[in-house]
Amino acid sequence: MNSARRKAAESMEKVDMVIEVVDARLPQASCNPMIEQLRNARQRPCLKILNKTDMADPVATQAWIDYYNSQKGVTAVALSCKKPSDVARVPKLAMQVAPHRGTALKPLRMMIMGIPNVGKSTLMNALLKKRVAAVGDEPAVTKTQQRLYLGNNMVLTDTPGMLWPKIEHPSDGLMLAASHAVGSNALIEEEVATFLADLLLQRYPQLLKARYGFNTEGMDGVAVVEGVAAKRGFRLKGGDYDFEKASHTFLQDYRSGALGRISLETPQSRAELLANYRST
Ligand code: G4P
Repeated sequence: MNSARRKAAESMEKVDMVIEVVDARLPQASCNPMIEQLRNARQRPCLKILNKTDMADPVATQAWIDYYNSQKGVTAVALSCKKPSDVARVPKLAMQVAPHRGTALKPLRMMIMGIPNVGKSTLMNALLKKRVAAVGDEPAVTKTQQRLYLGNNMVLTDTPGMLWPKIEHPSDGLMLAASHAVGSNALIEEEVATFLADLLLQRYPQLLKARYGFNTEGMDGVAVVEGVAAKRGFRLKGGDYDFEKASHTFLQDYRSGALGRISLETPQSRAELLANYRST
C-alpha cells in the first residue's frame, strides 16, 4: 500500500463519514477512485460535493447529481463553496448522511477529501468562518492534518493535499489541466487549449460565438485558438499567430468563467469514453 493510501485509510478509520469534494465541471476526472474504494471498504457514507457549480453547466450538473445519488452510500449536492449560504447547508447535510452520530458523547467525525484545487480549503475556511488554511490556485496548499471543532457536535479532519488525481485516460489529464487542477507548462498549454477548443466546438459552439464572434462552422480546435489570436491581435514578429499567448488567454477565459458555464464531461460522455476504452 503506498503511503498516501495508507494514510488516507488510517484517517478514514477515525471518521464517521467522508465529505468528498470534486469539481462540478469534471466530476469524474477530478475524483480519485481510491476515495471510493476506501470508503466502500470501510462502509463510510459520503457527502459528495460538486463544487464550483457556479462555473458548471446546470443541466450537466443535475445529470451528475442524479447519477451519484443513485450510488449506494452517496448523497450528492451541487454547491459553490465561495457562497456562504451554500456552505451553511453542509452541516445539516452531513448530519443527514450520518444520523447515528452528532451527540455530545458521539460527535460526528468528518473528513474532507479530494484532489488539489477542487475547493477543500475554501470549504473548510467557510465552515470555520475564518481562514485556517491558505487558499490558492497552486495545487496542494493544504499540507498538515488538522482536527477542527465545528460546534453542534461536529469534528472536522482534513487530509493532506496529496491525493493526486488518477489519470486513467489522456482526456482526464487534459480536462484537469484545462481546469488548472494540475499544472501545465507553456508547451502543454497549447495542447490543452486545442483540446478544450475541440470539446467546446462539439458541446458549446454558441459560447465560442458569443465570446469571440466566431462562425464556428468548419472550425477545428487549432482554428479556434488561432481565431482568438486574430481577435486579440496576438502576432509574432514575422506576422504568424502567437499560438502560445492565444492558448493562455483562451484557457484563462474558460478558467475565469468568462466563456460561460461549461461542463467538460457528463455522465453520458463518461459512459461513452469508458465504452470506447473497453472496446480498444
Ligand atoms: P484545494 O484546497 O482543494 O486545493 O482548493 P482551494 O480551496 O485552494 O481552491 C482552489 C481555487 O478554487 C481557489 O481559486 C478558490 O477560490 C476556487 N474556488 C473554490 N471554491 C469555488 C467555487 O465554489 N467557485 C469558484 N468559482 N471558485 C472556487 P484561486 O483563484 O486560487 O483563489 P481566489 O483568488 O478565488 O481566492
